[in-house]
Amino acid sequence: MAADIYHELFSLKGKTALVTGGAKGVGALISKTLVRAGCRVFISGRSRDAGQRLVDELAEHGECTFLQHDLGDAEQVQALARELAEHSASLDILVNNAGTFNAEPLGSVSEKSWDDLMGLNVRTPFLLIQALLPLLGTKASTADPARIINIGSIGGLMPQSNGAYAYGCSKAALHQLTRMLASDLRVRHINVNAIAPGYFPSDMTAGFFEAVPNLEQTMLGKIPAGRFGSQEDIGGMVVFLASRAGAYLTGTVTALDGGFLGAA
Ligand SMILES: NC(=O)c1ccc[n+]([C@@H]2O[C@H](COP(=O)([O-])OP(=O)(O)OC[C@H]3O[C@@H](n4cnc5c(N)ncnc54)[C@H](OP(=O)(O)O)[C@@H]3O)[C@@H](O)[C@H]2O)c1
Repeated sequence: MAADIYHELFSLKGKTALVTGGAKGVGALISKTLVRAGCRVFISGRSRDAGQRLVDELAEHGECTFLQHDLGDAEQVQALARELAEHSASLDILVNNAGTFNAEPLGSVSEKSWDDLMGLNVRTPFLLIQALLPLLGTKASTADPARIINIGSIGGLMPQSNGAYAYGCSKAALHQLTRMLASDLRVRHINVNAIAPGYFPSDMTAGFFEAVPNLEQTMLGKIPAGRFGSQEDIGGMVVFLASRAGAYLTGTVTALDGGFLGAA
């Protein structure tokens, strides 16, 4: 009996998902969860080695396919959408996760570093959603909307810059894009929500901790949960947003941070 209600609310069996940047870090935590939940998962990234490693690791659990594209390039965004359409006539779940970070003193931020970051973190999710609307619309219905999940950041919610000017602005923009698209796409039965993670293990956060001595311990001390985020935390949130349980939710931005923002 208990299994029935979990299945009814949370099952993702047979859904098709695309996770950008799905082979590493936060994206890999999401891809691993979706594959184990029974989805047919496509992951994209620049590094074929990392993509193939994850595909091999997940082979015993289900179906995962790597598509190699540099999403900093607008033409490659279109190419990813075209390649996905060759594999699948529909898309149930799009996770816009690929992103980049930089932090520099105010006087050192260059036009190029600003534009490159904004391009990947804001323009790319927008262009990809635009290009994938036909696939997202194929099976979307009132009863079971398609889901877009944008990976924002607490960096887009908090006032402190820590030098991450472009990053914070890019994530705030992605949160706002989430709300605007949710409003526009409601009638097409496509839900759009954002998750704003706190600190999760990844190459990105490893870079922070390498750059600033004692930062890891300092950050842990500021997280009321007393730990960094895990696969269960981000994977569980994605499963909720993508499943029947989350079907009535659109236009939200949820901080997933172990209480960090509230305590700051
Ligand atoms: N980790 C955290 O604590 C944290 C907190 C808040 C928000 N986030 C957000 O979570 C997302 C993932 O971050 P992460 O921490 O997992 O970072 P990460 O370890 O640096 O991973 C970034 C991912 O994006 C892909 N990517 C980067 N540039 C790309 C490009 N030009 N074209 C295509 N793919 C590209 C990377 O794959 P390739 O290198 O193979 O291309 C990789 O899979 C980002 O949007 C980040 O802002 C993370």
